[in-house]
Amino acid sequence: MDMEMAGKVVAITGGASGIGAACAELFQSEGAQIVVIDRAATKTETQSDKTMVLAGDVGDEATVKAHVSQIIARYGRLDGLVTCAGFSTGTSVVNTSLEDWEAVLRTNLTGTFLWSREAAIAMKNSDGGSIVMIGSQLAFAGGRSNAAYLSSKGAVVSLARTLAVEHASDGIRVNVLVPGAIETPLLSRSFARSNDPAAAKARSIARHPIGRLGRSEEMARAALFLVSPISSFTTGSCLMADGGWLAG
Ligand code: NAI
Repeated sequence: MDMEMAGKVVAITGGASGIGAACAELFQSEGAQIVVIDRAATKTETQSDKTMVLAGDVGDEATVKAHVSQIIARYGRLDGLVTCAGFSTGTSVVNTSLEDWEAVLRTNLTGTFLWSREAAIAMKNSDGGSIVMIGSQLAFAGGRSNAAYLSSKGAVVSLARTLAVEHASDGIRVNVLVPGAIETPLLSRSFARSNDPAAAKARSIARHPIGRLGRSEEMARAALFLVSPISSFTTGSCLMADGGWLAG
């Protein structure tokens, strides 16, 4: 099936690792022009690259505005955005310092706000576009020892719905992709924080009726559906790609 991605310019925050990196690879193979934004990026933009790479923090307003300006200067448009930049500290409410709380919210929520705001402005000035925010099954199921992370992911759903309603008439669609536990460096770090990482992994697998962890490539395919014009009547929605976690 032609996903109608040829020539589309898509920015992916957190695109240097895990789900974001898988999105970059898949979307590029579908003919899209990819822009990766990541604070772990080791290089800045080079004209020869097929992928434009922008190093920086999604939580910094001036950086986000400068990055979107660079994209528009180079390509003249922005058709898609997938906000994958995120992290967790893995602490309960009473054990979360204000510093950790603010750091997680700054990346996961403020970074998603800043990028989607600037992208919506750019998309409104051209032919509209599609924004995909990465949420979390835990924002719906609840969980423990992840207070700031869960709070940020719950708020992302409300942000997506708000933006979807405000810009539907501009041809901008906004949706949330809700993964289960996906085998990425983030998940490995999360298991490593446990007293018994192997047991934590086994418990996580058992939460998925499908009986295994998800793969980044599977999230990239779900994100491709949401970012592409194929999902043209889908906005303000949450797509569960969680191995059945929330149904189980
Ligand atoms: P990852 O750790 O493999 O990749 C995240 C990337 O975001 C990294 O390259 C990191 O450098 C970048 N990043 C983090 N903070 C940043 C900032 N302030 N500015 C710029 N870049 C920043 O993580 P993964 O697993 O691929 O996660 C991607 C998204 O999916 C995250 O939002 C995560 O919360 C979400 N998610 C992941 C799940 C999982 O089990 N792996 C489950 C549910 C949601």
